[in-house]
Amino acid sequence: MGDEHKYAKHLLHYERVRKIIPNQSQTLSKSPGQFRKGTMPLFSARAKGAYIWDITGNKLLDYMGALGPIILGYADTVTDNAIKKQLKDGIIFSQPHPLEFEVAKLITQLVPGADMVRFGKNGSDATSGAVRIARAYTKRDVILFCGYHGAQDWYIVSTERSAGVPRMLKQLVHGFEYNNLDSLEKLFTKFPGKVAAVIMEPAYAEHPKGRFLADVKRLAHAHGALLIFDEVITGFRWSSGGAQKYFGVTPDLSCFGKSIANGMPLSAIAGTRTVMQKTEDVFFSFTYGGECLSLAAAKAVLSELKRNPGILKHVWRMGEKLQKGIQKSIESHGLSHSIACVGFPPRPIMQFYKDNGESSPELRALFQQYIIDAGILYSTYWNITYAHREHHIAFTLRAVDEALRKVKHDIAEGVVLKKVGRSIAPVFAMHAGGKKA
Ligand SMILES: Cc1ncc(COP(=O)(O)O)c(C=O)c1O
Repeated sequence: MGDEHKYAKHLLHYERVRKIIPNQSQTLSKSPGQFRKGTMPLFSARAKGAYIWDITGNKLLDYMGALGPIILGYADTVTDNAIKKQLKDGIIFSQPHPLEFEVAKLITQLVPGADMVRFGKNGSDATSGAVRIARAYTKRDVILFCGYHGAQDWYIVSTERSAGVPRMLKQLVHGFEYNNLDSLEKLFTKFPGKVAAVIMEPAYAEHPKGRFLADVKRLAHAHGALLIFDEVITGFRWSSGGAQKYFGVTPDLSCFGKSIANGMPLSAIAGTRTVMQKTEDVFFSFTYGGECLSLAAAKAVLSELKRNPGILKHVWRMGEKLQKGIQKSIESHGLSHSIACVGFPPRPIMQFYKDNGESSPELRALFQQYIIDAGILYSTYWNITYAHREHHIAFTLRAVDEALRKVKHDIAEGVVLKKVGRSIAPVFAMHAGGKKA
C-alpha cells in the first residue's frame, strides 16, 4: 500500500518544514498530521480545474477543494481574469472601493436574509462578528451552537483544542444536537433571558427532519434570541442563495466564506436591516476587509452563479451520482454496518464505524489510503465543483468500488490496524451535532 519511494520528497520537505513551522501548515485540517506520512502526498504545488499536482508533479483528481472554497474549479478562467483585471488598478486603497458596494449588492440580490452586508477575510471573522452583533443587539451573552464555527475564542473554548483560551468563556457557549429540538429547548430553559443567539450550520451530515430549522427559528425568537445561520460551507454551494434559500428558512444573520470567492480570502456577514444596523456600534473592522482582488473574485463568482443556475445544478447532479454510486457500492460489498455516505450532494460525507457504532479513524485512513493510491485526493468529504465532470465521477466510482473491495478484504482478514498503523488523530472531536474540523 502506498509507495514510500514515491513520497520521499514529501518526507524530506516535511522534515525541513517542521523545524520552522509549528503544525507544518497554516490550516489544521490540511496539515501533514492529517495524512499518513510516507504513503500519501503531503504538499501541493499547483491546481487546475478538478486536479491538483503535488510537489513531485504527481497529478491527483481532487475532492478536498482546498477545504471548501473551490466551487467553480481551481484556477477558474472567469475568476482569474477578474483578479488580473483588478490587479492593474490596485489591490487595496486608502478609502472604500466601489467593489464593496457591488459585491454587497449581489449578496442582497441572491440571499433571502441579506438586507445589509459586511466583509471579513476568514469564515471565523464572519461567525465571531455575527455573534458579537447578536450580543450587542440583544444585550445578552449566552450563545447556543450546533456545528463547527471557526477559530475564535468564543467558540473554540467549547472544543478539546482550547489551550490559551480563558476558561471563563466556557460558561457562555453551549452545544445542542442537530434534529433534537428538545436539546435546544432545555438550554433555553436553563438560561432564561440570557441567550443572545442560536448559531448553527443549517445542514451538515443529517437532513433536517420535518420543520426542524423553522422550529429552531421559532424557539429562538420566542426566547428573544436571534438565529444565525453559519453558511460558511453551505453558502453559494447548496444554492446561489445558500442553504436558507434551499430550505426556505430565513435567519436574522448569516455568515459566508469559502466558496464566495472561489479561493480568494473573503467572508461576509449578511442580515436583516434592523440587526445589521447594530454593526455600527460594534467593533468589526479589519485592515484587509475591503481588499479588492478578493472582492473582484467574489463579484465574478456571484455574477456567474446568478447568470447561470446550471452551475450549481451541475454540482448537485454530479454529487448525487457520486453519493448514490458510493452508497450502492457500500451495499453491494455488504459494508453498510461499517461505512456510510451521508450529507448532501454538493458535499457528500463518508462515515466509518467500528462494530460498537463508534467512529473508526482506522477504517477511514485505510479507505483514504486506497483512494489516494488510485490517484484521488480525498479526506472525509467529497467537495464537488463545477469542474467535476461525468468522466471524473465514473473514474471515482470505479476507484471507490475497488477501495471498498480491499477494505472488506482487510476487515475479513483482521489486518486493518496492521495496515494503517497508528491512526491519524482528528483535529478535535466535535460536540453534539458537530463534526470534525
Ligand atoms: C461551518 C464553518 N464555519 C466557520 C468556519 C471557519 O472558517 P475559516 O476557517 O475560514 O475561519 C468553517 C471552516 O471550516 C466552517 O466549516
